[in-house]
Amino acid sequence: MISDRCARRVSPPRVVAIEDLRRLARAHLPRVVFDYIDGGAEGEVTLAGNRHVFDHVTFRPRHAVAVPAVDPARTVLGTRLALPILLAPVGSSRLFHPRGEEVAAREAGRAGTAYILSTLSGCRLEDVKAGSAGPVWYQLYLAGGRDVARSTIARAAAAGCGALVVTIDTPVAGLRERDVRNGSLPLLSGHLGRMLPFLPQVLARPRWLLAFLRDGGLMRFPNIELPGVGPMPYADVSVALEQATVTWDDFGWIRRAWPGPLVVKGVLTAHDARRAMEEGAQAIVVSNHGARQLDGVAPTLRALPEVAAAVGGRVEILLDGGVRRGSDVVKALCLGARAVLIGRAYAYGLGAAGGAGVARAIDILRTDLVRTMKLLGCPSLDALDCSWVDIPADWADRAT
Ligand code: GLV
Repeated sequence: MISDRCARRVSPPRVVAIEDLRRLARAHLPRVVFDYIDGGAEGEVTLAGNRHVFDHVTFRPRHAVAVPAVDPARTVLGTRLALPILLAPVGSSRLFHPRGEEVAAREAGRAGTAYILSTLSGCRLEDVKAGSAGPVWYQLYLAGGRDVARSTIARAAAAGCGALVVTIDTPVAGLRERDVRNGSLPLLSGHLGRMLPFLPQVLARPRWLLAFLRDGGLMRFPNIELPGVGPMPYADVSVALEQATVTWDDFGWIRRAWPGPLVVKGVLTAHDARRAMEEGAQAIVVSNHGARQLDGVAPTLRALPEVAAAVGGRVEILLDGGVRRGSDVVKALCLGARAVLIGRAYAYGLGAAGGAGVARAIDILRTDLVRTMKLLGCPSLDALDCSWVDIPADWADRAT
């Protein structure tokens, strides 16, 4: 009944594109939560760049070609996925919707694709894995220290997670100015005096607030299990990240601790791509962390040709950042990505309407993707390469 209502809320004509889910999420969530999803680091230069860069790549369709069917399936790290779109790790999804990580993973599985669970999740990795019919990968930060990470890696392996995704771009948390202005830290402190000035934005969304309180209120991080303390408290995470920076030296013990495929996320240059391969990565994610870390780095699509040239097909390349349309996915595939990750695109859906919103986000992108392929005159994802697009002349500079 409720989910019928949610499905209706995200159906056409209200929701035609991801931007419509964004609008609904903004209306449903407190500002502090919406801006946590929507915002980027510092001046948000890279945030805007991640989106606009797709406009600089133009298609070269082959017309008068009938493409009766397009199979959007793609094999990623040996697993056949129903579409070349995985759900990226998004921290604190449980703030967007009750049991947010479990809900998003369940919808990814229903759609036949993979969900990547963030270390900064409000749900236990075992519950997320058990609740999804699809592959679940685990994203690793070393928050809490190396011993804590080692035991979480063992838990992820025992639960059947299909890959370990090590994020390398977070030596400290980026400065997300919107979070500071909205009082995210005081709100997390649990101290009424400090929370008070920022409470009106939360009280203005009573439907969200009730659901949040029924889900247990401010969660801890159950996948960062501190000895003698239990799950890491929310407010401690920034400091914990800074105290346990991932370096290339960590890959030795991580490879010994993790029996499955290793993915390095946060690669933007040929240099780091080569290093990730040397450290045993089977896939890399060209990522600037959704423009939430170092502002002023290249948009990911811009970095992709350089990385693809350095990798030379030896490992799989995934890309995230700014993907809002099926045509964005096609452009990334043309420039060398095997698949893309979406973050905000499904997080808006989760915030707007829970599982129905996530399902709708995936459905929009799948439908877009198939339509784009037909309009291009290209019958198969495997046939996509740089001959289907024009890129600005200077993009090739570093790609050799
Ligand atoms: C966590 O990784 C975040 O970007 O908020």
